[in-house]
Order: sequence, then structure tokens, then C-alpha cells
Amino acid sequence: MADSWTSPGWDVHLDWHPGTGRQGLADALRRAIREGRLAPGTAVPSTRALAKDLGVARGTVTRVYADLTTEGYLRTSQGAPTRVAAINPATPAPEKTGPRAAPWVPDARWDLYPGRPDLSSFPRAAWASATRRVLQEAPANVFDYGEVHGSAALRESLARYLSRSRGVVAEPDRIVVCGGFSHALTVLCHVLRERGETSLAFEDPSLPQIRENASRAGLRLAGVPVDEAGIQVSLVDNPAVVVTPAHQYPLGVTLAPERRTALARWATTTGGLVIEDDYDGEFRFDRQPVGALQALAPDRIVYTGTVSKTLAPATRIGWLVLPRSLVEPVRAALTATGWRPPTLDHLVLADMLDSGAYDRHVRQRRTTYRRRRDRLLSLLPKGFQPIGISAGLHLLVLLPPHLTEAEVIKAALRESVAIDGLGRHWFAEGEHPQGIVLGYATPAEHAFGPAVEALMRALGQFSSGPG
Ligand SMILES: Cc1ncc(COP(=O)(O)O)c(C=O)c1O
Repeated sequence: MADSWTSPGWDVHLDWHPGTGRQGLADALRRAIREGRLAPGTAVPSTRALAKDLGVARGTVTRVYADLTTEGYLRTSQGAPTRVAAINPATPAPEKTGPRAAPWVPDARWDLYPGRPDLSSFPRAAWASATRRVLQEAPANVFDYGEVHGSAALRESLARYLSRSRGVVAEPDRIVVCGGFSHALTVLCHVLRERGETSLAFEDPSLPQIRENASRAGLRLAGVPVDEAGIQVSLVDNPAVVVTPAHQYPLGVTLAPERRTALARWATTTGGLVIEDDYDGEFRFDRQPVGALQALAPDRIVYTGTVSKTLAPATRIGWLVLPRSLVEPVRAALTATGWRPPTLDHLVLADMLDSGAYDRHVRQRRTTYRRRRDRLLSLLPKGFQPIGISAGLHLLVLLPPHLTEAEVIKAALRESVAIDGLGRHWFAEGEHPQGIVLGYATPAEHAFGPAVEALMRALGQFSSGPG
């Protein structure tokens, strides 16, 4: 999906994906300069012209030009156009391709990029009251280095919460609390490597940032196709597989009952391991929540959860409910990385779970997000087909046949709305349905209406009428 960008007097192929934003644009320009496609001395277009051509905010281009000037790729002089500098190819500036602190989100005024809840809804008062109670009541040893698998109080509260709300078979001594799902998955991957495994399967499509955790841990990735009933279990041919059964990311389908049974049977008969990523299981709108898959085979299925969607990603708390045989190896892998949990935060979360404050917050968020989903669905223009709508914080919208996601993402950016495309989630490039992924939870309450209006202006230009 690389883009070709053309400007008067120029024809420069920029290896740039609309979904990769400022970082991606900077990388594409660095590559074009290093590979000589933009020769030293060449005047680059004005920030206004390039922003218009690419359909990105002008501020994005301004910042990219400033970064590249600092790095020596571009040079500026008063009153003259910015030009490509003569770089020394032997000492190229380092590309910023390392792991990102947060999923990349384009610079845009309205944020419908999926992955985060409404950060302004963090339950500050409840968190503060729980913190006060913890500080008043906790004995001094709480301030010591905590046990590697997480505070006993939190593991006990989680065991109760997960069995009541998600039907997980969750005794406290099977639970290991980590720094979010990504951390938990990384630790599991190290355990798989220790056991001599070399590959890990993921759903195709799935979230590339999550897959990166496994490849960074040295595992080869395999993609298993997903259809309207979820992952095609008969095609799993690896020692372990990561799945999102309650609400497949990004397609939004729920794993069908016969596939759930088949996956549990696959695990028990082959000795394979299933890693259940229950990233948004609390948010189901149209019917009873789908219980955790883990209960079908608790000794072969690892259940994982996180507060990144219910509270906020900054909380960095996620958990594993493990088959007994994996508890010690996971604790050992965590110890090997020098991990010690943030015990105070664990106690605060345990207090919120026990007092009912966490459930109240989740219930309140569920109502709000459901209302937002309904609003978004009611406004989608004709030809735009939403799927996976019964749960979660995002919608996948399949595009009318004549449209590509790149042009829709560009049109949205022209209205200053950040959205994601389906394309980057597939394992391989090729013929795939064109779709956009909309995170309707992300905007603050006051921004949701304007964000949706701006998106509809962008989609409206491609449509023949209301849906
Ligand atoms: C599919 C999926 N799994 C898991 C997570 C949660 O990851 P973490 O707990 O590391 O924030 C996310 C967050 O965006 C997600 O989209």
C-alpha cells in the first residue's frame, strides 16, 4: 500500500502508508533521500503543498521537516525553500523504527483511532478514594518489594471478579499480574522459547503491535484465517495460538460455539496452548457477555485480561490465569527480567474490585459506549457496512466496492479525523476486503459529536445517500 506522491516538477515515489502518520512520513522521506530519489540540493515542496498532496495535517509535515532538518537530511535558510542536504551515506541518521511507547495515532483534531477508551473518563475520584483507604490501612510491609506474581490481595480480588463476571476458572495461585497484556504475552513467549517452541500462531487479521511482541521474543509468526465464525480452528498447526474469542480484533466476530469446543478439543488432544486475549470482554451490548473460553480447558488455555480498556492504558495492569503447569515457569521468566510489581497500584485496584467501584465504572462506560456505537451506526452512509457491532469499543466498516481504505483514511484526515485501516492487520499483502476501523470510545464526551460529524463529512462524499 505504498503511496506515490507527485508534486509539480517532481515525481517522487514515497514509500509511505497513510496509516503510519508523522513517523511513517519521516521514515519515507529519509529513505527517499538516502536512496538518492531526492538528490542533494533539491527543493522540497512547501509544507502546505505536501500536506495537501498527502491529505495530512500541515502541522505534521512541518514537524517532519523540522525533525529531518535537525537530523541533517534537510537544510533551511531564511527566505529560501527547504532543500535536501548532502548527507554522508556512511553515517545515516538512525531510523526511528524501535518499539513505540504507545500505538501510533495520526495528528488530527478528532480521534476515532481504535485502541483506547475515553481517557477523560478515568475514575479519578474512585481511584483517589481507594488510594486513600489503602494508605490508611496498609501495613508497612506493603511498601517492600512485592512478590513477582503480584499482590495476594489483587490476585484474590481478581479471582472473584473473573469468575463472577467472565466465568473464568480462576484460583488466586493460578494468577500472575503483569504490566498489561503486551507484557504478559512477552513473558509467555519467553516461556514458550524456553520450552523449545519456535512458532506462535495468531488470528489473521490481528493487531500487528501484539504480534510484534512474539517476534521480538524470537518466535516465528503464523497466521490462521478468520471467517464469520471466528478463527478456523482446523487450520491451526502450531504449538500455541493467540485468539480473541469474545470479540475478534479487528473483525469483531464472536467465536462460534462449535469453534469454541473445537479449539478446546484441539488444545487438549494435541497438547497445544491457547492464549485467550479478552481485551474488551466487559463491553458487550446486545446480549449476555460471552463467557471466557478458558473455562472449557483451564489446563490448556491461558486467560489474559487488562484494565487498558476499562480504566486506562496508563494503569499498566493486566493478568494471566494460567494452567497450573505454567505458573512456575511464568514466575521464573518474570523474575529473570527483574520485574517487581507496583504493589500499591495492585492494592488500589483490589480495593476498587471489592468495593464495587470497578463494576460501577464499567457499567457506566458500557452505557456510554453503547450510545456512541448506536449514534455512529445510525449515521453511516449507504454502502458502508458495519460488522462486529455487538461488543467492544470499535467498529469495522467494510467499504463500498469502488473505494480503497487509503482514500477513505485520507479523506478523513482532510477533515482532521484519525481512523485506522483494516489493511495493516493482515499477515500478507494482497486481495483483502477494504475496511476502516473506528474507535468510538476514544474521544472525550464533548468531542464525540464533532468527531462523528467530521467523519460523516468525509464518508458522505463517497456515498449516494444515508444508510
Ligand atoms: C487486541 C488487543 N489486545 C490487547 C490489548 C491490551 O494491551 P495492553 O494491556 O498491553 O494495553 C489491546 C489494546 O489495545 C488490544 O487491542
